[in-house]
Amino acid sequence: MSSSLSTRLKYVSLGVLVVQTTSLVLTMRYSRTLKEDGPRYLASSAVVSAELLKILACTLLVFREHSKYVRALNQVLKEEIVNKPMETMKLAVPAGIYTLQNNLLYVALSNLDAATYQVTYQLKILTTALFSVTMLGKRLGCNQWLSLLILMAGVALVQWPAESADASQQTSLSAGFQFVGLMAVLTACFSSGFAGVYFEKILKETKQSVWVRNIQLGLFGFVFGLIGMLMYDGQRVRESGMFQGYNKITFTVVVLQALGGLVIAAVIKYADNILKGFATSLSIIMSTLISYFLLEDFNPTSLRETQP
Ligand code: C5P
Repeated sequence: MSSSLSTRLKYVSLGVLVVQTTSLVLTMRYSRTLKEDGPRYLASSAVVSAELLKILACTLLVFREHSKYVRALNQVLKEEIVNKPMETMKLAVPAGIYTLQNNLLYVALSNLDAATYQVTYQLKILTTALFSVTMLGKRLGCNQWLSLLILMAGVALVQWPAESADASQQTSLSAGFQFVGLMAVLTACFSSGFAGVYFEKILKETKQSVWVRNIQLGLFGFVFGLIGMLMYDGQRVRESGMFQGYNKITFTVVVLQALGGLVIAAVIKYADNILKGFATSLSIIMSTLISYFLLEDFNPTSLRETQP
């Protein structure tokens, strides 16, 4: 591939990632706070559906890569996935971690507003940098370390929305909820850093196509997600089915999450995890503005307002 094409792919994939991250966070938050009659959809089921959709999409991409022949597709899948069990097994590690993380994301967004969640989740840039240095041997300059320090200070300064005119919002943003949300998001920072760098290592050290790698990742993700869903929500699934409470917004969340898997894989291939982190931080600005002006979900406070 020519270097100008790969530079273009790098920036296009980073741009799509910004839009995808913003839309996912807002739609997910909206879907978890929407008050509706009947049961709310199961987050564990949405994770499984997204994995399934991602596998289907990646299979279509491999199909296209191989001149749209079903026989060629079968052969590639057999050779690369079934006949190389050790290579396939390598993806079980990030898949397990991502399954946990994808579920934590729902916990976080059920307890924190979209903007607070987004800012705190930026700590994953720091964990990603630490894992990139230790696992990939990347070297960071003084300026880059300094940016990471500023990032940490910024996250520490995040003010939780302190006062809300709306009593129901006050309840949902109470300290207990926030603590649960915060723990979920901090755990996700570590899992995101480790799994992302592990996936980058596998992708850049071996020759398999990124879409085949994503199918391997998705297969494990699907199995782990299914186990998680049955363990956590088994009773409810048996009572009202896996797709209970699904509506148009749920489908949008699932499609956006599956799309995210594809875009992130492309970003890791054409750019790297640290750039991915900085690109998604742009979406903070977008989701904060949309959250404030359109969803009225977030009331920014100044430092002075919340200090005793
Ligand atoms: O927040 P973070 O960037 O770590 O999120 C990564 C997301 O992308 C997870 O939902 C993970 O399941 C997904 N992913 C994927 N395929 C990849 C890498 C990540 O679906 N190759």
